[in-house]
Amino acid sequence: MSKSKFGLVLVLMLVALSACGKKEGGSASSASASSGSCDLVSTKDGSPLAIKVTATDTAEAKEFLATCKNPYTKLYAKDAEAAKAGHKQFNFQGCSGCHGGNANGLMGPSIIDAQWEYPKHNTDKGMFETIAGGTNGKGATARGSMLTWHAQLPGHTGDGLDTDTILKIMAWLRTQYTGGGETPWLS
Ligand code: HEC
Repeated sequence: MSKSKFGLVLVLMLVALSACGKKEGGSASSASASSGSCDLVSTKDGSPLAIKVTATDTAEAKEFLATCKNPYTKLYAKDAEAAKAGHKQFNFQGCSGCHGGNANGLMGPSIIDAQWEYPKHNTDKGMFETIAGGTNGKGATARGSMLTWHAQLPGHTGDGLDTDTILKIMAWLRTQYTGGGETPWLS
């Protein structure tokens, strides 16, 4: 192949690659290009969850609400000391009362095994939707329903939790995962 032809092939490949990258980004979070939003929906009925960025939100909370990816997950996976902040909130907010201090289940289901109440819990978006907005108890093991926790949603428990606190708890939960197999939250 002549040098110039090789150059042309290379350019074409790069164009194809970048077009492909754009398409992927667009389909992963369809509205993100236009509104920068993760488009959270209720686990109960699929209706939109009205959770907005607030003035006091951390950079991590803002990033999640734009991308649907929890920035703490990879951080905690590498740093057990940092992950303690999530464990602390899990106990402090009363999650441990139903799920056990190590999240391996009591009256509520285990959160650290491969048995997900709803298949979407292997994604950051899906797990966040269940913790923020609650469920109506139709999960796989029929253990009852999850409460609503996000402070911006009607009927939330106690004072409610902000986006950042939920993300920290989720990232700690991922570090405790014992189920084996795929761990899509780390990719
Ligand atoms: C009053 C008891 C109770 C409390 C307190 C509670 N949960 Fe739950 N949780 C449940 C039940 C019951 C389910 C199953 C829901 C279903 O199947 O619809 C559940 C489900 C979940 C799931 C999905 C688990 C899976 O395996 O798919 C997550 C994640 C979760 N809870 C996180 C939390 C967090 C975080 C807190 C604290 C902020 C919390 N829960 C507090 C009862 C509770």
